[in-house]
Amino acid sequence: MIEAVVMIALGQEVVFTDRQRRIIDRMSPPPALPVDTTNRVTDNADAASLGARLFKTRTFSASGAVSCDTCHVPWEGFDDGRKLAKGEGDGTRNTPTLLGAAHQRWFFWDGRADSLWAQALHPFEAPAEFGSSRTDAVRIMHDTPDLRAAYENVFGPLPPMEDLERFPAGARPGTPQWDAMTPPDRHAVTEAFVHMGKSIAAFERTIPFATSKFDRWVAAGQPTDTGLTQQERRGLELFNGAAGCRNCHGGPLFTDRAFHNIGLPEPDGSLPSDPGRSAGLAEARTHEFRAGGEWSDDPKGATARRAATARDGPEHWGAFRTPTLRNLPDTAPYMHDGRFATLAEVLAFYNTLEDQVRLDHHQEQVLTPLNLPPEDLAALEAFLRTLDDTPEKAAGTP
Ligand code: HEC
Ligand code: HEC
Repeated sequence: MIEAVVMIALGQEVVFTDRQRRIIDRMSPPPALPVDTTNRVTDNADAASLGARLFKTRTFSASGAVSCDTCHVPWEGFDDGRKLAKGEGDGTRNTPTLLGAAHQRWFFWDGRADSLWAQALHPFEAPAEFGSSRTDAVRIMHDTPDLRAAYENVFGPLPPMEDLERFPAGARPGTPQWDAMTPPDRHAVTEAFVHMGKSIAAFERTIPFATSKFDRWVAAGQPTDTGLTQQERRGLELFNGAAGCRNCHGGPLFTDRAFHNIGLPEPDGSLPSDPGRSAGLAEARTHEFRAGGEWSDDPKGATARRAATARDGPEHWGAFRTPTLRNLPDTAPYMHDGRFATLAEVLAFYNTLEDQVRLDHHQEQVLTPLNLPPEDLAALEAFLRTLDDTPEKAAGTP
C-alpha cells in the first residue's frame, strides 16, 4: 500500500536535465537595467524624485482628475485592472504594467516610442489621457512651487510661463496658439517638456521588481525538494518545452521585447483592424521625440540606430509587443485589448487557437494548438503564478 503511494508520487515527479537546468538558470534573476544614453538624467536621483512627483500630479490633466498613477496604480501592479484605459476619454488599448517597463527597447503595445522618456510625453497631449498641451504642462509645473523648485534645481530656470501672450493656453503643435508663438518660445517650452519626460523616465527606472517565488527557487539552486511544487515544475517544463512559450516569453523578463501577431480573433468575427507594429514602427521613426531626433541626448547612438535599422515587413501588421509574464495576477485583464479576464482564458486560447485569424504572410508560424489536457493547463497556470512578487511588495501597500 505504502509502496503504491510512493510510486504514484514518483510517477509525477519532474526531473530536469542539466541542459534544462541551465536554461532555467538564465530565467532569473531579472537583469540590470539597460543604459539609456538618450537621456542624460536617466540615473539622476534628483530628476527621479521630480519624476515621481510629476507621476502623481493630477493638475496636468484637462479636468484635474487624471494622473499617470490613475491608470498605472502602484499597488495594483502599476496598471488599472480595466479592459481598456480610461482617462479624460476612452482609450482603445489595455494599460500595461510599468513593472519591468524600463527594460524594454520599444514602448507601447505597438512600440511607437523608442525611449522611455519619449513615451512619458505622449499622455500629456493625448486626448484620451490628459487631454492637455505641453505649454499648459510646463506652466502648471512653473506655478506649483515645489515642482518648480525641484525642476529648476536639476535643469535651471523655466521660461516666464506667467506671460500668457507669449505662452498661450492650449498651445501644442497643430494648434493656432502654437503657430502664434515665436520659434524660440516654442523651443523653450518643448525643451522644458522634454525634461519632464526625462525626469519621469528616471523615476520609472527606480520601480523595482521584487523577488518572486520562482526567483527564490532558482537562487537556491533549483532544489528538488522545496521551493516549487511538482505541479509548478510541470508547468515550467511545459513552458520551456512542449508548450513553446519560451520561444517568445523566454529569458528573465519573460519577453523577447519583440513583436508578434498571435492571430487573436476579433470578437465579432470581422478582420482585425489594429495595424499594431506596422503603424508603431512608422511612428517611432518619424516622431518628434525619437531617439535619433533633436531632443535626444545621443541622436547617433545605438538606440537611435535601432529604429532606423529595424526590419519592416508584412508580418508586422497586427503584431504587438510580447508582454512580460512577471506579476500576471496583478495585471489582469490580458492582451493589448484586455480581451481575456483570466489566465485560464489566455491558456484556453493557446490550447485550441480557436478562431485564430490567419492573414497570408502576416502570421506567426510558431504557434500550433497545444491540445494539452486540463491538468497540464492548470500546471502552466500554477507556474505562471510563481512569477508574481506581490507577497513581498505587500508591505508597501497603503
Ligand atoms: C488613461 C490611462 C493612462 C494614463 C493617464 C497614462 N497611461 Fe501610460 N499607458 C496607458 C495605456 C493604455 C498604455 C498602452 C497604450 C498603447 O500601447 O497604445 C500605456 C503605456 C505606457 C507605457 C509603456 C509601457 C510598455 O511596456 O511599453 C509607459 C511607460 C507608461 N504608459 C507610462 C505612463 C506615464 C509616465 C504616464 C503619465 C505621464 C501615463 N503612462 C499615463 C494608460 C495610461
Ligand atoms: C509567437 C510568440 C508567442 C508565443 C509562442 C507565446 N506568446 Fe504569449 N504573447 C505573445 C504576444 C505577442 C502577446 C500579446 C498579444 C496581444 O496583446 O495582441 C502575448 C500575450 C500573452 C499573455 C497576456 C499577458 C498580458 O499581460 O496581457 C500571456 C499570459 C501569455 N502570452 C502567455 C503565454 C504562454 C503561457 C505561452 C505558451 C503556452 C505563450 N504565451 C506563447 C507572444 C507569444
